[in-house]
Amino acid sequence: MSDAKATLPATPPPGAAADWTIPQAWSDYTPAEHAMWDRLFERQSAMLPGRVVPAFLDGLDVLRMSKPGIPDFGELSERLTGLTGWKVVAVPGLVPDDVFFRHLANRTFVAGRFIRRPDQIDYLEEPDVFHDVFGHVPLLANPVFADYMQAYGAGGLRSLELGAMHRLARLYWYTVEFGLIRDGDALRIYGAGIASSHGESLFALDDPSPNRIGFDLQRVMRTRYRIDDYQQTYFVIDSFEALLRETLDTDFAPLYRALDTAPDIATDAIVEGDRIFHRGCQAHALAGKPA
Ligand code: PHE
Ligand code: FE
Repeated sequence: MSDAKATLPATPPPGAAADWTIPQAWSDYTPAEHAMWDRLFERQSAMLPGRVVPAFLDGLDVLRMSKPGIPDFGELSERLTGLTGWKVVAVPGLVPDDVFFRHLANRTFVAGRFIRRPDQIDYLEEPDVFHDVFGHVPLLANPVFADYMQAYGAGGLRSLELGAMHRLARLYWYTVEFGLIRDGDALRIYGAGIASSHGESLFALDDPSPNRIGFDLQRVMRTRYRIDDYQQTYFVIDSFEALLRETLDTDFAPLYRALDTAPDIATDAIVEGDRIFHRGCQAHALAGKPA
């Protein structure tokens, strides 16, 4: 899910099926590739307890994701299907939006099969198997979050018809990728982009730089986002139930129309009506050094 996708061809590359899926070819991974997964897995699973929403850790557990090596999507899908009806399939890289949404609407999560190189351990531009599987799959074992992802896919297809894909992309970005959630007085991570990033797992919760603001659907749909650095604003939901209820119960079509005349909100802005958990000093962005 990114802006880069505008340039993707409409047909799948050679070797991919009509729905853009490819075999994971699990036995082709090298020992070095499995070792890279283990290294990333160890680092994040040591860091996340107490920071990530408990449902994420439950997901790692029930899916047996601590098993060494890059997960076999077939095995992972078997467990996941038994829990929530979801499965994980491999794709060559980013896929067109309609393809992505259609898979989600069918409770299928598409994941990259490749893993980052050692020199990319902290930063890479395209999501790899560690981001896609470690970051996204644990919460697909949670029934409420699993329903949200499916509803999101259906809503995505609808947004394409209504010419409002960018609004829905922002919703994905600020929930599925970079969402925070309340746990009593504390904030926890649930977004995959945070949970799979060592640096951002610290930054999103502890750094004084970013804003942390209560989730508001229209506010989110108006807010730009950064793809080149840590976020300048994070949105905090009260619960997965509340997120699912609000997005399912709201007809987005009139919202999209109403927002056509509403100006975008900058990545660092605080606006009237914001429920502020933390007003960011934006020191990180002002320093201008990418993450
Ligand atoms: N209710 C949304 C619509 O009318 C669909 C949706 C559900 C979108 C959940 C995102 C998440 O389009
Ligand atoms: Fe992602």
